[in-house]
Amino acid sequence: MDQQKLDKIISRYTLPSGRLLGILEEIQRSERYLPREALEYVCQKIDVPLSKLYSIATFYSFFNLEPVGKHVITVCMGTACHVRGAPRILAKMEELLEVKQGGSTPDGKFMLTTKDRAFTINTARCFGACSMAPVVRVDGKIYGYNTPEGLPNILRQYGWRRE
Ligand code: FES
Repeated sequence: MDQQKLDKIISRYTLPSGRLLGILEEIQRSERYLPREALEYVCQKIDVPLSKLYSIATFYSFFNLEPVGKHVITVCMGTACHVRGAPRILAKMEELLEVKQGGSTPDGKFMLTTKDRAFTINTARCFGACSMAPVVRVDGKIYGYNTPEGLPNILRQYGWRRE
């Protein structure tokens, strides 16, 4: 993210209340995550410690400290989904997208992104769609009653192809 763009963002937040949150939100909207270099630049410009920005970024779950793929797949690991096979759904998703199991970001969030940044897999606790368990959400769209065998059909809708 270039410095001119960051300067513009910073200049829009002159009042102390909500300033840091607003700046971080705009950076994430632009980059889809919070690049460390951008955070370092902001700290230097407005004279706040980097730890302060990181504490905000890790407190709010919607901030990402790692790059996010074009399509975000969220596998529900809530109780209803778990008992109906969510761990197998997650494992199959990782296998199909060829991402390493057990990945997590520096802030401890589970998140795996494919090398081409086409897909990111993460997990959630419940979408409120337990009757359709196990549930997967892709870019906000809910898919229910999943089986490991059915996952390729979902992924193909988002451009996934197995070579
Ligand atoms: S537990 Fe998965 S949708 Fe509720």
